Amino acid sequence: MPAIVLIGAQWGDEGKGKATDLLGGQVQWVVRYQGGNNAGHTVVLPDGQDYALKLIPSGILTPGVRNVIGNGVVVDPGALIDELAGLDARGVDTSGLLLSADAHLIMPYHIAIDKVGERYLGKAKIGTTGRGIGPAYQDKIARVGVRAADLLDAKILRQKVEAALDYKNQVLVKLYNRRALDVDEVMESVQAAGRQIEHRIADTRLMLNRALDNGETVLLEGSQGTLLDVDHGTYPFVTSSNPTAGGAAVGAGIGPMRITRVIGILKAYTTRVGSGPFPTELHDAMGERLRKVGGEVGVNTKRPRRCGWFDAVIGRYATRVNGITDYFLTKLDVLSGLEKVPVCVAYEVNGRRCDEMPMTQTDVHHAVPVYEEFPGWWEDISEARTFDDLPANAQAYVEALEGMIGARVSAIGVGPGRDQTIER
Ligand code: IMP
Repeated sequence: MPAIVLIGAQWGDEGKGKATDLLGGQVQWVVRYQGGNNAGHTVVLPDGQDYALKLIPSGILTPGVRNVIGNGVVVDPGALIDELAGLDARGVDTSGLLLSADAHLIMPYHIAIDKVGERYLGKAKIGTTGRGIGPAYQDKIARVGVRAADLLDAKILRQKVEAALDYKNQVLVKLYNRRALDVDEVMESVQAAGRQIEHRIADTRLMLNRALDNGETVLLEGSQGTLLDVDHGTYPFVTSSNPTAGGAAVGAGIGPMRITRVIGILKAYTTRVGSGPFPTELHDAMGERLRKVGGEVGVNTKRPRRCGWFDAVIGRYATRVNGITDYFLTKLDVLSGLEKVPVCVAYEVNGRRCDEMPMTQTDVHHAVPVYEEFPGWWEDISEARTFDDLPANAQAYVEALEGMIGARVSAIGVGPGRDQTIER
């Protein structure tokens, strides 16, 4: 039966954790298919407290749901252990979490190179999370990566670590003027972590396909977002994986025809963390207002998020590259109390109107938003539970967005609480 993809339609942080809650009762498996502990999904624990999941799928909070870290994810074993311990301490049963044997590991040298590499780039830095994500994916593509299955074979693991350090130490010492890493130290730390997680390593590809054959529903949970995709995002200011829907099949090991629904998560305005172009970014008091009212601070790195108006060019683009079937629109309540709500309907690039995402990144950098203003609403909408409960102007705003992005909005977030959602 079906696989459902959940994907951020902007630059991440659209509120995917809450979206998973909405689907909770309908799914038997939740799978992370790309990224690593660069992500941050805030979820509400059974004790009512917020918890920031980084690597572990958000289905971990729903008893009975099987959770998988798929082959497309890069895993820092130490970070995984910390996250498991944090959840265990809060009474969450993590015993069923599985890790694909083919998931690549983030090694200590990846983290060292991520951090020092960013410093080396100076003004051209990507603004990465510094978790070693990019360097781990580089090694995967260069075919020198270490995979979870290697934790089960000390001899192979050592061969791989030795070979990697031969090269990485040259980079660390000769290029970045840093200390070389010692093979034994790296082996010791990775094996110590490995002993704690090796019982979770499984052929998750086989299990997921069998589950689908048995009519179970699998939720493929993307992290980051469409515009951080290494192919379809604002390259080079992107992450090193494919959050877009196509990446879900690859990163979980299922066929694309298994996917029957692609849900895009879209914030009612736009945010971005790290460097890179952001046409509707606000550098004024309104940007500050969105940041404050929306609580826009990175879950993972605590960096303040850059904020701006809704960008329909991005929405249309996300609909197209992901094949979105419907959207969850989040944080509509943050826009309450504004006289007018501007929406970017197109860009002007070098004096020319551009209704679609420009072909080149140079043009994206030069894109000036063309705004259309929508009448705002003053009412507090946090208690609205049906579309009809929303003020007419809020309804008109949502309907206008649907028209511009070319897909239906099937759910609307009106507050941080689990129940503060309108299903349509
Ligand atoms: P990396 O994924 O750490 O390599 O960082 C690459 C870019 O993606 C940077 O601009 C990060 O700020 C951004 N990024 C990575 N993960 C997230 C996320 O979960 N939300 C928002 N931005 C992210």
